[in-house]
Amino acid sequence: MKILRTVAEVRTAVRDVRGRGGTVGLVPTMGAFHDGHLSLIRAARAAHELVVVSLFVNPTQFGPTEDLTAYPRDEQRDAQLAEAAGTDILFAPSVAEVYPAGFATSIHVSGLTDVLCGASRPGHFDGVATVVTKLFGIVAPDAAYFGQKDAQQVLVIRRVVRDLNLPVRVVACPIVREADGLAMSSRNAYLDAASRQRATALNRALDAAQQAVAQGRTGAADVLTAARAELAAAGIEPEYLDLRSPDDLSTVDAVAPVALLAVAARVGAARLIDNRLLEAS
Ligand code: PAJ
Repeated sequence: MKILRTVAEVRTAVRDVRGRGGTVGLVPTMGAFHDGHLSLIRAARAAHELVVVSLFVNPTQFGPTEDLTAYPRDEQRDAQLAEAAGTDILFAPSVAEVYPAGFATSIHVSGLTDVLCGASRPGHFDGVATVVTKLFGIVAPDAAYFGQKDAQQVLVIRRVVRDLNLPVRVVACPIVREADGLAMSSRNAYLDAASRQRATALNRALDAAQQAVAQGRTGAADVLTAARAELAAAGIEPEYLDLRSPDDLSTVDAVAPVALLAVAARVGAARLIDNRLLEAS
């Protein structure tokens, strides 16, 4: 595995592989790798001759009061894990390489970014859409791999790709969870032991909603009540708990026949998100 710092070096490496007829898979990340990240790398490895993983804590997607400086960083550890999972190129640029002086362009996706995480994190998805579009321009991958854990992020990227006719296939991979159901997240590192325990209520809330649907209670009120009860039992007041269309995030009043249940909550020092695609039988 090579660690590259500049756009020019990445372009050269990609060109070489393409010249030999190989395809390229990109996995955009901010590091602090866990099995969720590694599952994306493995999926890319299984499908492409060249696997490029970007490691860049993107400042433009953090709000002024968010955890940009506290965000966990350990490049050496990440490099070892990335290599073991099958990465060929770890692209770890500086902030100046990605945002040189005079940088003035932003990608804004309207509508989709007004709700859920977009409502409480103004500008967040502009930062995500802009940096991911840049990575697509730098790496020119055949496919890019994202986690369904960030369901809204996947929809935003799909919309950018569609609206701007970018020649990239967006692949969404399943949510990877800890043994007790907590969705893996770099931000789980902020949880103390008691909060870590309480955080399992998010997955239980999604389970309870799924169970309600399985029992025929498919209306939004029933689904949300079932989920909310699990959160309340753990003393968690969600930032949002919403039933939405998995296609465009519009609100839906029932699981008919599918719906995305999405939750965000502050638990101790961490802001956690999780979601589940619910299907009525
Ligand atoms: P980051 O939070 O590092 O996540 C990188 C990728 O890993 C994202 O596609 C995310 O959805 C996926 N991921 C995180 N936890 C996961 C889990 N438990 N199971 C499966 N996949 C998981 O998301 C970002 O970085 C940034 O916004 C980025 C797209 C890199 C743009 O800066």
